[in-house]
Amino acid sequence: MDESIEKAARAVLDSNLTLALTGAGISVESGIPDFRSKGGLWDRYDPDEYASIYSFQSNPEKVWQMLREMEETVDKARPNAAHIGLAELEAMGLLKSVITQNVDNLHQEGGSKDVIEYHGNSRSLTCLWCNRRYDYAQKKGEYPPYCECGRILKPDVVFFGEAIPMAAMTRSYELASSCQALLIIGTSAVVSPFNVLPRQAKQVGATIIEINLERTVLTDHITDILLLGKATEMVSGLVAAVRELKSL
Ligand code: APR
Repeated sequence: MDESIEKAARAVLDSNLTLALTGAGISVESGIPDFRSKGGLWDRYDPDEYASIYSFQSNPEKVWQMLREMEETVDKARPNAAHIGLAELEAMGLLKSVITQNVDNLHQEGGSKDVIEYHGNSRSLTCLWCNRRYDYAQKKGEYPPYCECGRILKPDVVFFGEAIPMAAMTRSYELASSCQALLIIGTSAVVSPFNVLPRQAKQVGATIIEINLERTVLTDHITDILLLGKATEMVSGLVAAVRELKSL
């Protein structure tokens, strides 16, 4: 068994409360490009022009050009071995919650029950004018999607310039303040306030296990165990190691 994987598995088994923090990297192997890697979404769309609430309010048709590409990609995506592995850890009683920046619903579709969506979810839409809400399925294929009041709908995802849902932020911070092991998977950890959570967990003495293809801003001063590689391979390896050590 790989030494780092074994160390990570032991940390999870010894922990009374383990969390997973995830970013776009965990869904890349499901076919959804991340944001900041080469060829990522922000390589093709300027986030200031396409991902701020101000750009949506001033030109929703333009923003829906990007959103349409995202929706069609997410529609085709299925949970991968990393999403499923986290759900297995939860079912084994070894993972309390997934706190995700992703809006693709793949953790839930992969079987995770306790998922905190820090940046909302693209599976529903709201009218900023009359507040009517729609399921994504009701508006699928309609670009841009219109409310019955005549205005263009906004997906229930957090744009730059919008507040993080209060319940998500509060519960995430409470959990990060009492966890003993933290898995950080597929995130560059450059966006706040999400990136406060690893620091808070570190502060309370949690073992920080980072899974990524590359080193990040966390690696040199927050991360205790770095598992460099694809999320599907590292999470599957971790779950297999946990099962093996548990059976000894
Ligand atoms: N396995 C593991 N890590 C991966 C994989 C993979 N297969 N593919 C990519 N990664 C890593 C990248 O190396 C990178 O460090 O995932 C990370 C993705 O970083 P970002 O693209 O910045 O995505 P994320 O951290 O989720 O962005 C945070 O920024 O634009 C906003 O709202 C958006 O929620 C998003 C937030």
